[in-house]
Amino acid sequence: MRVEVLQTAGRAAASAARLVARALEREPSLVLGLPTGRTAIPFYEALVALYRRGVVDFRRATTFNLDELAGVKDDDPRSYHAYMRRHLFDHVNLNPRRTHLPDGAAGDWTREVARYERHLSEAGGLGLAVIGIGRNGHIGFNEPSARLEARTHYVKLQPASRRANAYLARGDWREVPTHAVSMGIGTILQARTVVLLATGASKASIVARALEGPITTRVPASLIQAHPAAIAILDREAAGRLSAARRRGAT
Ligand code: GLP
Repeated sequence: MRVEVLQTAGRAAASAARLVARALEREPSLVLGLPTGRTAIPFYEALVALYRRGVVDFRRATTFNLDELAGVKDDDPRSYHAYMRRHLFDHVNLNPRRTHLPDGAAGDWTREVARYERHLSEAGGLGLAVIGIGRNGHIGFNEPSARLEARTHYVKLQPASRRANAYLARGDWREVPTHAVSMGIGTILQARTVVLLATGASKASIVARALEGPITTRVPASLIQAHPAAIAILDREAAGRLSAARRRGAT
């Protein structure tokens, strides 16, 4: 796995955005896997800035978000749909027919997870997946557990994950839904390229476990060590507990 360490969170986000822009230049009809979370906000800001400068064109691109909270409608400000409109979709030339998120108001979850997985496979699967990491090691909402789901599924969130999403509910974690729909670990890892973006000191310990610890379902992000084309883009704080050799990547 390639590990890039940048001085600041802003530079890490900009580096991830440039990587996406280069990939779209090579392959304009790329299928992108997209994350939510606070870490991704500067990444989307950087992508929007590149778009405004004419450096990136989303016209032919397709996007699939990794996950959505369950029990919220698209227009609910807590939804990942709303987050994506706020931070990316309203600002770039993505075709709305080619942006996809699980339907948080579906109700029939068996049907919804099958629908999402089918649309993704009809699009040819993910070309480039940008992912974040929860402080508990989750990716998407694949929560630490004795076993992981390979495909898109309905999942009960751990309290830590509800707290981490409280920023979407004016800081009140009890207002964060108890369940979500998430791509499975296999769906994510089938992406041709996986880019993990992590910033800030609060991620240092889980980043070290994910990138250098044993591969285990107890740290779902550790599975990306087995991916043939995974890149971790970190700031110095998030890289703070990696081995010295990795940290020397600082630029
Ligand atoms: C949520 C998302 C994850 C994301 C995580 C990181 O829980 N479901 O896909 O990786 O947030 O969040 P943050 O960047 O806010 O730490």
